[in-house]
Amino acid sequence: MSLYPSESAAAGLKVTTGSCLAKKQRGEKISCLTAYDYPFARLLDESGIDVLLVGDSWGMAVAGGESTLAVTLEEMLIATRAVRRAARRALVVADMPYGSYQVSQPEAVGNAIRLVKEAGAEAVKLEGGERRAGVVRAIVEAEVPVMGHIGLTPQSVNLQGGYRVQGRSAAAAEQLLRDARALEQAGAFSLVLEGIPRELAARITAAVGIPTIGIGAGPDCDGQVLVLHDLLGLSFRPRPKFVRAYADLAPAVRAAAEAFRTEVESGAFPADRESYHMPSEAAPVRQPHEA
Ligand code: KIV
Repeated sequence: MSLYPSESAAAGLKVTTGSCLAKKQRGEKISCLTAYDYPFARLLDESGIDVLLVGDSWGMAVAGGESTLAVTLEEMLIATRAVRRAARRALVVADMPYGSYQVSQPEAVGNAIRLVKEAGAEAVKLEGGERRAGVVRAIVEAEVPVMGHIGLTPQSVNLQGGYRVQGRSAAAAEQLLRDARALEQAGAFSLVLEGIPRELAARITAAVGIPTIGIGAGPDCDGQVLVLHDLLGLSFRPRPKFVRAYADLAPAVRAAAEAFRTEVESGAFPADRESYHMPSEAAPVRQPHEA
């Protein structure tokens, strides 16, 4: 219950790191989608999605890059600010882009704080297991909740030799279990499990007390995340096996743009009803700069 009565109604609805944990404990699933701008974030929030992840997948889904490696902190700040303005209920988690947490702990803490202070992030996400435990602890000690991310970690694309399913050997599976436990002990409030066998995701989900959010990790995780543009049919790459497209917006967008172009070319747009008129002759004509 909120200490501040005026906030209590809103607080009951708001998704928090605590309410995500409570969902796991009640056996309820957590829904998470990526969001990068105000209009989509607003629609997702209104649809009851629990967590809006301002993913560095922005670099591929929106900016058209080949990987997420070039995404900057400034770009994440701009996207997070827009998403936060739209989100009333959902928890807003901002991805820490490549290079923003690997160099030193003080720099990582400073960058996490920027995402909170300058963009309104309510938590940050960073990639990597055991070897990131120190930086996760340091960020949590600075009062910023951290979502971990293990398995296929796109920022390790060069080290992992492409975007490949991880954890298929017994040794790799044991390492991912150690990674999950280390991140939980370091204070992470949840874990993204990406691109791992469903059996391993189920083991990890049972082994940790914090919620797991799967992407390409099967149905036994505590929640699921997808990249919004994949879900809407707005990606221009082959669809991975784990994606389900719930809409096919590309043809609708193309059709609207083609209709506009055709009407501009024929002169059908704009019509008189979409035009302004001069003031009546009696009224003095005002220039735009005159109040
Ligand atoms: O950047 C992103 O969108 C992500 C999700 C795919 C988990 O990390």
